[in-house]
Amino acid sequence: MNFKTIIEPFRIKTVEPIRMTTREQRQVALEKAGYNLFALPAKDVLIDLLTDSGTGAMSSGQWAGMMRGDESYAGARSFYAFEDAVRLITGLKVVIPTHQGRAAERILFGAMLGKDDIVPNNTHFDTTRANVEYRGATALDIPIVEGRQPALFHPFKGNIDLQTLERLLEEKQEQIPLVMITVTNNSGGGQPVSMANIRAASELCHRFDVPLFLDACRFAENAWFIKIREEGYAHKTPLQIAQEMFSFVDGCTMSAKKDGLANIGGFLALNDEALAQRCKTNLILTEGFPTYGGLAGYDLEAIAVGLMEVVEEDYLRYRIRSVAYLGERLTAAGIPIVQPPGGHAIYIDALSMLRHIPQSEYPAWALSLALYLEGGVRSVEIGSVMFGLQPDGSEKPAAMELVRLAFPRRVYTQSHVDYLLEVLLYINEIKDRIRGLCIVEAPPILRHFSARLEPAHGRLLSEEE
Ligand code: F0G
Repeated sequence: MNFKTIIEPFRIKTVEPIRMTTREQRQVALEKAGYNLFALPAKDVLIDLLTDSGTGAMSSGQWAGMMRGDESYAGARSFYAFEDAVRLITGLKVVIPTHQGRAAERILFGAMLGKDDIVPNNTHFDTTRANVEYRGATALDIPIVEGRQPALFHPFKGNIDLQTLERLLEEKQEQIPLVMITVTNNSGGGQPVSMANIRAASELCHRFDVPLFLDACRFAENAWFIKIREEGYAHKTPLQIAQEMFSFVDGCTMSAKKDGLANIGGFLALNDEALAQRCKTNLILTEGFPTYGGLAGYDLEAIAVGLMEVVEEDYLRYRIRSVAYLGERLTAAGIPIVQPPGGHAIYIDALSMLRHIPQSEYPAWALSLALYLEGGVRSVEIGSVMFGLQPDGSEKPAAMELVRLAFPRRVYTQSHVDYLLEVLLYINEIKDRIRGLCIVEAPPILRHFSARLEPAHGRLLSEEE
């Protein structure tokens, strides 16, 4: 008998209590935090969906690996275990550990980008964009048009627009030191990229002699979507699919805090040995010796084991299914989300949900605050607070106003998801009372992390009629 219920494929050995708070306590916490969920102490959050990054639960196998951690400065056994795991999955020649994904980006871009260069990507994540712009280069997002329409169904909405990429390569090849594809496309809704798209982008890039890199943070989730949605992959294992994805690229940056199933870590992997040498020089200057790159030996072990666990079918089936379950229930209730649900998160389309709040008053930010106030749930805005501020200091509304509910890996259970659903249905009932915000204080870059805001009309939620 094939039973239908997809269960969490683990049992729980250690538990961490979470704390209930009252609405009044949460109102006070919000005021103290300058209406910025990044400034909230985590102890005041009941269900924390701020990010899936570094927030996952490690397995008994990973903890056992941590005890094996070899803390030798150079050539530690743990480094070779890490290198083997990365090479098995990516097939890339040189493996450079970093303390997290953005360090890999900074080091890669430091070695490759100059002023006035352009980096095309399906969609840059915020730190990736900031690291490109920090070099004086332009981070250009070129997702397929379907990728910018939240309500539209498309199996591979994360795809890069190949026509635009070809035109860019024809016209500006000299300014393009590399092309990137982000799998899955986090800022574009956690949407996957098809194998056909990666293959075609690779052919294009190589025709123009431009290297292609993956931002591989969620490579295993992307591989699962290819398995269940792309013809010809149903019988392949996630590992085989991942290996094929990487076979088309010249390198990757990776945050092991996502599909490395670790709490910290990342890497840069690439085939060009001369470029790798330049990267390693910078690594020694800023992260550490090339066999530890800012990580402890036990971190390298945890990642080595995590990379093998993340490609297990039962894990990926449960992971993608629990996100889809929430997506289906929200859709049935008429709550607009990016369709179909992404791999690691549900993205609520706040622009459609809160039509009464203009983009200049940050509707997605307002929705994320209401979710915390009413249900103790922390989410993250991916909208005009995150992306609205231009490098020249001007303000431009973001392409989408999304609230991301990102799921830590192996942390929450089905009843947490059901509670979340109940909170979201309630928020949907009172949505007309949610009011916009204004920014009172913000730094010039990555302002969403530390900006202070205030309700633009006295309070976050207007009185009941
Ligand atoms: N690229 C993507 C697609 C990401 O989602 C992230 C991080 C990074 C790069 C940077 O990796 O955090 O290890 O330095 N995303 C997290 C998030 C922070 O919440 O989506 P990092």
